[in-house]
Amino acid sequence: MRAVRTSLDSLLMTFEATFGGIPSLVVRAPGRINLIGEHTDYNDGFVLPIAIDRALWLAVRRREDSLVRVHAHDVGETATFALDGLDRGQRGWVAYVQGVLWVLEKAGVPLCGWDGVLMGDVPRGAGLASSAALELAVARAATALVGWSWNPVEMAQLSQRAENEWVDVACGIMDQMTAACAREGHALLLDCRTLAFEHVPLPSDVVVAVLDTGTRRGLVESAYNERRAQCEAAAAFFGAPALRDVTPEQFAACAHLLDETTRRRARHVITENTRTLEAAAALRAGDLTHFGELMQVSHASLRDDFEVSTPALDVMVACALAAPGCYGARLTGAGFGGCAVALVAAEENQPFAEHVLACYRAHMPHAPQVYVCKAAEGAQVVWEESAR
Ligand code: GLA
Repeated sequence: MRAVRTSLDSLLMTFEATFGGIPSLVVRAPGRINLIGEHTDYNDGFVLPIAIDRALWLAVRRREDSLVRVHAHDVGETATFALDGLDRGQRGWVAYVQGVLWVLEKAGVPLCGWDGVLMGDVPRGAGLASSAALELAVARAATALVGWSWNPVEMAQLSQRAENEWVDVACGIMDQMTAACAREGHALLLDCRTLAFEHVPLPSDVVVAVLDTGTRRGLVESAYNERRAQCEAAAAFFGAPALRDVTPEQFAACAHLLDETTRRRARHVITENTRTLEAAAALRAGDLTHFGELMQVSHASLRDDFEVSTPALDVMVACALAAPGCYGARLTGAGFGGCAVALVAAEENQPFAEHVLACYRAHMPHAPQVYVCKAAEGAQVVWEESAR
């Protein structure tokens, strides 16, 4: 991943160079990495992600008219549109900005026009939820500008709705909930049905390593939608609202009646839900060895039953497992490329990274990156002109 990190200073400087003067406030919304609980969120199940210390930053200043002008520094593009002229034909990052404004307006937030600069260090397409970070950054900024009180769960739901209904991507709720509700130093155990969550502290003697395979997801959307449909078909077979409601015992009793593909998909989701709850318990108990074992079983299940891994992800995970200090590793996010995640003894993080990089380079042509991250806080206002 890029060595250059986003900083408040560079954001303020870019704002001045683009619009003149200073913004009224700056928000920061993080990317995420999921420790365990993959492809469970849209099955009403459990996930255990952390927000990472890679984020999207948005500096904004209110305008007196209803225009929105946003400069996306990383891609060197500026979009200008009126709040009453949102356009479903837009693609790329602008669609996410407009989708969130559309959904906020529908929810009754009295929006105002603004000038803004976007900057970030969450790599796109790597499975680190850069879209959710963008959505929550826009929601946080647009509400703060008009003094609308911040309700993180509601804002996560609205952001997901923007992505589902405006951008037309059928994602679950994990990414938005993490970007909105995560707590520094903690993992977020989330029940994706009730949206109840618990902040589970990460022990100080471990670090979370993001392992970027250097491959980017291809065809992820159609494969993702296909998996969702297969899960829904499996739930319908069991007469359950979602696979969350099917117990391992019910599954074992009737699995032979399912076709092979549906059986595997269901088996992944049902066992992954159990693993996620078990992993959260292991984390609470400080049993990192067991947590790591569960990550490995999760990877095998995603590879063999859910079939969302790739050779690059499998090699990355194998390299991580053979490296010093590694408790466990698995692919993270939707799959089909992007990143794996590993839990590593803090004192071994240097030799771990060196081993993984050398091992991966020896086996694959792509350029890998290893990044040790801290569990960060969900979307927040990090700077206000009035507080200077
Ligand atoms: C993507 C989606 C999430 C979740 C994961 C798989 O990141 O955006 O909602 O479904 O895939 O766990």
